[in-house]
Amino acid sequence: MIRVPIEQLRVGDRLGRDVYSSPDVPPLLRAGVRVSDSYRSSLERAGVIAVWVDDGLSDGIEPLEVLDVDTKRRATTAIRDAFSDIMRTVPSGARLSTEAIAEMGEVADLIVRDVSRHVHSALALNDLANADGYTLKHSLSVTTLGLALGVRVMRKYGWVDVDGRRRFDCGGGRLSALGVGLLLHDIGKLAVPGDILRKPSALTEDEWEAMRAHPTLGVHILKRDDISPLSRAVVRSHHERWNGTGYPDKRVGTDIHQFARIAAVADVFDALTSERYYKKAMPLPEAYEYIERRSGVDFDPEVVDVFKSFVAPYPPGTRVVLSDGYRGFVKAVRPDAVKTPVVRIVMDASGTVVPAREINLATSPQIKIVSTHFDLPEPVPA
Ligand SMILES: [Fe+2]
Ligand SMILES: [Fe+2]
Repeated sequence: MIRVPIEQLRVGDRLGRDVYSSPDVPPLLRAGVRVSDSYRSSLERAGVIAVWVDDGLSDGIEPLEVLDVDTKRRATTAIRDAFSDIMRTVPSGARLSTEAIAEMGEVADLIVRDVSRHVHSALALNDLANADGYTLKHSLSVTTLGLALGVRVMRKYGWVDVDGRRRFDCGGGRLSALGVGLLLHDIGKLAVPGDILRKPSALTEDEWEAMRAHPTLGVHILKRDDISPLSRAVVRSHHERWNGTGYPDKRVGTDIHQFARIAAVADVFDALTSERYYKKAMPLPEAYEYIERRSGVDFDPEVVDVFKSFVAPYPPGTRVVLSDGYRGFVKAVRPDAVKTPVVRIVMDASGTVVPAREINLATSPQIKIVSTHFDLPEPVPA
């Protein structure tokens, strides 16, 4: 199965997976269906960015799912409910119900469980590519990546307590508080006027000002006893930058709460790789390099170090062209060798299909990935 961006999807391609616009409603299209012109336009209308296609050449290559189907469904419903709580109460001072807060905690625990299961493998995040409201999808993606980072940062670097001691005893309670903070990190945006949030062109200085208020608005909404101060630190400081150029407090380095430093990487990576009104999604390898480049500038070097060890810039199912001209699909990604995956070669440089063979780029350093696009043979009519 390969992941095909919607603009490259062709009439006759066969879907390899059900396509959802949101995990909590029935699929738009089922696996096995052949794409027609009208199907393609309805996927576009629903804001779907990419789908999985069965193309015959990539048999046996399966997308990795980070989250359980049930976790995804429950998390989507919980975030949606929390958002509508806020929207309903905005005029009288936005707040969340006790039930919504409790559900956030349970959902955070489920996501911690799912991401901990894969702690020794590389992480492919493209399976979350569905549409629905941006803030909803963004909240779930940032939580998944942020917790996957958090679990690993705690193992490798631990956390520093009030006496300045590094500790490695990060229990479930702390991670769950990180999860709640990540789920709600942009909740303050619900109090920012919609025409500013959705403006397709550059914001004026006043509009920026309103936008930059979302972390403090969020903390205000979450000022209550049943929310951990650790969760609030994520909400308040996820736009702080390592070199002090962020907002709202212009904190520098380790003065920024560690959980907010983790959130910053997850937040920027997801924003870069998502499609918005005003910009196309950045390809994964470019977004990966951006995070790498901004280590020690925007981001905590320890968090970036962990990010680089397990986030896959070329997840299984990615089409790749190699420096020797051969073309194929990423078959597997090993942790600590995420930039040099195992590739199944299917075509030569002229585009002729060749007998499939595998090459491990980690043990063939002379061969590099030079592109992530080539044309596949025309789909065979059913
Ligand atoms: Fe934000
Ligand atoms: Fe965000």
